Amino acid sequence: MSFKNKVVYQIYPKSFYDSNNDGIGDLKGITKKLKYLNFLGIDYIWITPFFVSPQRDNGYDVADYYNIDPLYGTMEDLDELILEASKYGIKLMLDMVFNHTSTEHIWFKQAIQGNKKYQNYYFFKKSIDNKLPTNWVSKFGGNTWEYCKELDMYYLHLFDKTQADLNWENPEVRKEMTKIVNFWINKGIEGFRFDVVNLISKPQIFKDDFIGDGRRFYTDGPNIHSYLKELNKNSFGKLKNIVTVGEMSSTTIENCYKYSGEKENELSMVFSFHHLKIDYKNKNKWELQEADFEELKEILNTWQLGMQKNNAWNALFWCNHDQPRIVSRLGDDKIYWKKSAKMLATMIHCLRGTPYIYQGEEIGMTNTYFETINDFKDIESLNYYDIFLKEGKSPEEALKIIQERSRDNGRTPMQWNNKNFGGFSNIIPWINPIKNFKQINVENQINDCDSILHYYKKLIQLRKNYLPISEGEFIPVITEKDIYIYKRKYNSEEILVILNYKNKKEITLPKEEIEKNYSCILSNNNIIKLTSKLTLEPFDTFVFYKK
Ligand code: GLC
Ligand code: CA
Repeated sequence: MSFKNKVVYQIYPKSFYDSNNDGIGDLKGITKKLKYLNFLGIDYIWITPFFVSPQRDNGYDVADYYNIDPLYGTMEDLDELILEASKYGIKLMLDMVFNHTSTEHIWFKQAIQGNKKYQNYYFFKKSIDNKLPTNWVSKFGGNTWEYCKELDMYYLHLFDKTQADLNWENPEVRKEMTKIVNFWINKGIEGFRFDVVNLISKPQIFKDDFIGDGRRFYTDGPNIHSYLKELNKNSFGKLKNIVTVGEMSSTTIENCYKYSGEKENELSMVFSFHHLKIDYKNKNKWELQEADFEELKEILNTWQLGMQKNNAWNALFWCNHDQPRIVSRLGDDKIYWKKSAKMLATMIHCLRGTPYIYQGEEIGMTNTYFETINDFKDIESLNYYDIFLKEGKSPEEALKIIQERSRDNGRTPMQWNNKNFGGFSNIIPWINPIKNFKQINVENQINDCDSILHYYKKLIQLRKNYLPISEGEFIPVITEKDIYIYKRKYNSEEILVILNYKNKKEITLPKEEIEKNYSCILSNNNIIKLTSKLTLEPFDTFVFYKK
């Protein structure tokens, strides 16, 4: 099956739609909004974890992989969602969190009660000379080892201390994971997203990292490719209808050639994050800097060309539940709100790969601009806020960083209309809605052909109607600063994409391009005729096509 003309929509269920008015979005809420998703034209829904979980990391801390957390509904609700979605030709993609389990998982509980079998499901280490097993830094701040008094040992957690890392070296763990995937395949699930899956292979020997935070020892680890090949072979690999995507944290492009290479039998495609670090100073998420558009172009071109040459496939995205909103981040969520949202959408959707739209992105949802730390819910944000204060930053400085970088920027309730709480729920939601829901909401855009929503709908259709976009070769066109131009070519058909960043610009295009007789098929300004000299206004976007 080819997934090359498909588009995925990501749902963070907690914040999508609350069907029973308890302030928390749920599975029935997704079923209620299928008509909307069908209007948009997407093919898959990736739903972030709704399995039984203490919700310390909103479901990325799974306590039971086979059951649904009552917060989100029941197995019957899921069956109903699968069935109703299939009526629209929409398929579901589930989120498999296999690097770690919650410490509430029965395996972990058994382990700390002394069961040796389950101790070998995790990494428990003794402290030597009163030192922690390694000096690695957790992704959510602090050390990666937590003391367990029952065993007088430390266990590894790359994320929160309630997310204990699984020991994939142990074949029994690998069998359990395969069993889980097969269980969901049997339920009719046709897609899987594997959470931080390139971190599952840990080194034989654990040692201190004196030049980094430890990630170089476990990122794209020693046995990662054989583990993925094994999982593939014993579960989804046999089935042609299943699409898989791996979340690759701090990965390298060479590893991604393998993860998603056509002949590698690992995964269908990969998320990489290098293009979203262009506003990190010193590659550190918590050090703010202006986005570097030139670096962005370079990273996109490198990944497009490299993956293409190696028959590997990118997942294309700007937003997810871990990222600030792109229109606030790279665009301009004030004067050029609508225009910049459309420009950024075009940039990603016309590339070679599979586009992912994160709930609310299609209506141009912005960052939260929460005014106090009490409004934030995310464990990572709250941990780092404390760390910043301890480091001596003032509360104002700390808040400013969190406001800009918090994962909660992507987790506020979906803005459906201008009524209470943006139409998400009738009662106060688990996290506050953004104040701008009165202006930015689905209802305002659904009948407005010029809206961001309609623009996303058009981009999805372009992928289905134009082979150069779904299947074509990617060719970068060299240009000056602040302008990004690329082509997609399929036999004699070509797509030419011209994007301007935030300044007014004059550009000159090569003569041979002008002579090709392109016609403009999409723009966020006016449909124009291609001429050798163009004056571009801020965020101007044009997509041209020639037969
Ligand atoms: C991934 C998820 C993120 C989660 C982390 C740990 O990065 O997207 O939300 O906190 O993994 O599971
Ligand atoms: Ca609910």
